[in-house]
Amino acid sequence: MSHKDIFNRIGRSLHWLVAIGFIALSLVGIYMANVEAWALYPVHKSMGILLLSAILLRVCWRLWRGWPESAVPQSRIERMLAKIVHRLLLVGTVLMPVSGMFYSGASGHGFGLFGWQLVAENPDPQRPGQVLAYDDFWSALGEQVHEIAGYLLVAAVLLHIAAALKHQWIAKQTRLRQVNNRGSC
Ligand code: HEM
Ligand code: HEM
Repeated sequence: MSHKDIFNRIGRSLHWLVAIGFIALSLVGIYMANVEAWALYPVHKSMGILLLSAILLRVCWRLWRGWPESAVPQSRIERMLAKIVHRLLLVGTVLMPVSGMFYSGASGHGFGLFGWQLVAENPDPQRPGQVLAYDDFWSALGEQVHEIAGYLLVAAVLLHIAAALKHQWIAKQTRLRQVNNRGSC
């Protein structure tokens, strides 16, 4: 196997690792926030922090290897749109865990990695069971960014999947046409 094949394989594996983790965390996040499934919060936070290491590795990989060329021919508009969505997705994958950590940390809820505490909870002595924010500004900013970017990124991912399926379909049609043309010679 050539070096180029190995690099392509690593790039693709990182894409799928981050893609699957990101989709799963978005679904769990939306579910737990809407039905107040408190037991899922520490799992969501731990998985998000764990995924951040793969996300940072992927960002370094992209900066080092550059952006891959599209496998199918695209119009100028499609190329530009894909470029914007891909960059948004890459930035979004960093923004989500970072804003989540700011929100959970600054709000006083704290977070950890599967039981290993990274930022401690800040219990309110006046109200048992409640927490006191360490910093209201960073807590509110983290919450807003995590929520708004979360829903915007779900839309961007759906657009990205639709484009990938369309490319897959075009590539399949092109292959079929080539086979048919060869058959009729
Ligand atoms: C790639 C990683 C992550 C993704 C894709 C993600 C996605 C989401 C989404 C879509 C929501 C629902 C939107 C909302 O109501 O806020 C959510 C909620 C939440 N996330 Fe994340 N998240 C990630 C990482 C993290 C991390 C690392 C933390 C904290 C350490 C965190 C803490 C939270 C909290 C506390 C909520 C509930 C917010 C509420 O109750 O309003 N998330 N997440
Ligand atoms: C089922 C889900 C997904 C499918 C089928 C898919 C498919 C693809 C394909 C085929 C490409 C190459 C594009 C081209 O040739 O022009 C690509 C690139 C890319 N995808 Fe996805 N993807 C999925 C989910 C995601 C998710 C969830 C993210 C991030 C949140 C993501 C981020 C990216 C980025 C940033 C690129 C640009 C190239 C690169 O950095 O590797 N994808 N995806």
